[in-house]
Amino acid sequence: MQNSLRPNIRAMAGYTPGEQPRDGAFVKLNTNENPYPPSPRVLDALREAITAERLRKYPDPMGTAFRQVAGRVLGIDPESILIGNGSDDILTIITRAFVPEGGLIVSPTPSYILYQSLAEIQGARFQTVPYTADWQLPTPWPVRTANLSFVANPNSPSGTIIDSTSLERLAEEIAGPLVVDEAYVDFADSHCLGLARRNAIVTRSLSKSAALAGIRFGYAVADPAVVRELVKVKDSYNCDALSLAAAAAAVEDQDYLRSTRARIIATRGRLAESLQKLGFDVTPSQANFVWARRSDRPVKPLYEELKRRMILVRYMNYAGHGDGLRVTVGTDAEIDRFLDELGRLL
Ligand SMILES: Cc1ncc(COP(=O)(O)O)c(C=O)c1O
Repeated sequence: MQNSLRPNIRAMAGYTPGEQPRDGAFVKLNTNENPYPPSPRVLDALREAITAERLRKYPDPMGTAFRQVAGRVLGIDPESILIGNGSDDILTIITRAFVPEGGLIVSPTPSYILYQSLAEIQGARFQTVPYTADWQLPTPWPVRTANLSFVANPNSPSGTIIDSTSLERLAEEIAGPLVVDEAYVDFADSHCLGLARRNAIVTRSLSKSAALAGIRFGYAVADPAVVRELVKVKDSYNCDALSLAAAAAAVEDQDYLRSTRARIIATRGRLAESLQKLGFDVTPSQANFVWARRSDRPVKPLYEELKRRMILVRYMNYAGHGDGLRVTVGTDAEIDRFLDELGRLL
């Protein structure tokens, strides 16, 4: 049967998600989950949503209630919002809608590895454009003919951000749409929602700032005419009744989001400073993780030794760009434990 598979699927390695040990004993700083619980209103909404009637029936395919709440909170037209089963689902829908087989997807690198997997699944070409040494986009932008371009903003693994004016210029220069992947934007000083009406689509995740990685919910903001086309591509019921209830409650509770955001940003500052004192080069981060590198020694053994000590961070190695540790901002106690163990190893 394997011979019947599309050649591009057979040829691809497949995206490897970060390790998700089921052993709760790990200090887990490897996949940028929020260390704090979701808003108590989310738990109330979920309890309310678990009725036999809600479970028996299909959910609202468009997520109308979520779109209304998010539209009000973000000050945008609910018709410009597309719901997704995590923002990865949204990225898949956009790729399927815009990129023909043999088409071209472009992304600056190093960045989110999934963009390449999406190109491979689609049978499209994938071209990377290296970030400059200080994590900006090169000017002039070298590939204007792409069917789709992805920029993670803030970027992973660097945690850096490109200003909205530069992205607006880029969206105007290129042929196919620019996807501004704002999975981490709630930890940043600025956002690009205002670009969503031009040649750009902004995507968001509730996995990080809203502490709902287990629920799977993301959304896109785009011109309503584009959203209507994307709806044709998505699974009819791509978000279930429970995730829709949780997502609406999470977005509505902006006070809670602000308070956990402030705690994470404070810990991020302390983590970056402490890593620098331990001899790491730390890129200033606008996300809920930091990218830490060393010029004097390999970091893979540190990752491995930390793991043996039940602390999980993400080791990443990008061809042509070198390697580093991407460390999620955990609670203060988790970060203290991480820094203590790391200090001992050094
Ligand atoms: C840049 C970026 N975009 C999107 C995602 C996917 O987020 P979600 O959990 O909403 O699918 C991630 C997850 O780590 C990410 O790093």
